[in-house]
Amino acid sequence: MIPTRRASQVLFAFCVTACCAAALAQTAEKPFEPYSGQSGKDVVWVPTPTVTVSKMMDVAKVTSRDFVMDLGSGDGRNVIAAAKRGARALGVEFNPEMVKLSEQTAAKEGVSDKARFAQGDMFAADISQATVMALFLLPDNLRKLNQKFQDLRPGTRIVVNTFGIDGWEASHSESAEGDCGAWCSVILYIVPAKVAGGWRIGQDELMLEQKVQQITGTLTSGGVARTIENGRVTGDQVVFSVGGVEYSGRLKDDTLSGSVKSNVPATWTATRLRH
Ligand SMILES: C[S@@+](CC[C@H](N)C(=O)[O-])C[C@H]1O[C@@H](n2cnc3c(N)ncnc32)[C@H](O)[C@@H]1O
Repeated sequence: MIPTRRASQVLFAFCVTACCAAALAQTAEKPFEPYSGQSGKDVVWVPTPTVTVSKMMDVAKVTSRDFVMDLGSGDGRNVIAAAKRGARALGVEFNPEMVKLSEQTAAKEGVSDKARFAQGDMFAADISQATVMALFLLPDNLRKLNQKFQDLRPGTRIVVNTFGIDGWEASHSESAEGDCGAWCSVILYIVPAKVAGGWRIGQDELMLEQKVQQITGTLTSGGVARTIENGRVTGDQVVFSVGGVEYSGRLKDDTLSGSVKSNVPATWTATRLRH
């Protein structure tokens, strides 16, 4: 039997050895390495291939004037690519280890001043200041974000990898070339201005309904209502036809104004009716 004093010395020595071993094991711990398919809160991590990231930045025409956001920013590649083009960029990512990795990569790439990352839930993120959204999310995620996208400033570009946004019309789509497997397709959307409601054009009344970029409605002159055709809103630009006559215009504050394409070219101005 070991005497009590001797026993405590042995125990102390054991603890010191165990603690040192644990400390050593910690310092020797492998750095965090994400893997494709790694689980995530609402969508797994699958990285956008490098060639697709570049194509997304090209298609969205990202410049130093932009503020680019990625929701579910993974290892930060979209945000870092945007920062390398001079934009300010912010990634929102739920997994704190991915956030840390993104920050380390941004530092290594020398863009920490422009590329920022926040740990959080993408559905709670404030995206109102973005001029470009660069995303790789599932259709169901995009569906949940749809209203937030519609509330973005008119003209904001939303560029996505492969999965499109329900009910939106693509402004442009392109495929990346090279090593991108199933994730080569890039789609661009332009956030439309909100023009639904009543408008007065001189003595006439324009009534518009809007589903994302599509507008329908009537133009009533002298008590006769005529249906609007081919109505679209792209950013702050509005086009529609009435009886074969094309109206195009731009929304500024509460005024729509532009030109009428007919035998006799003319201009038009509509002011919003307040009820
Ligand atoms: C398909 S990956 C896209 C990663 C990156 N945007 C890219 O293009 O390479 C989706 C990312 O969303 C993250 N994610 C899942 N649910 C989230 C949530 N509710 N809020 C924020 N991030 C989330 C995952 O951890 C994953 O990194």
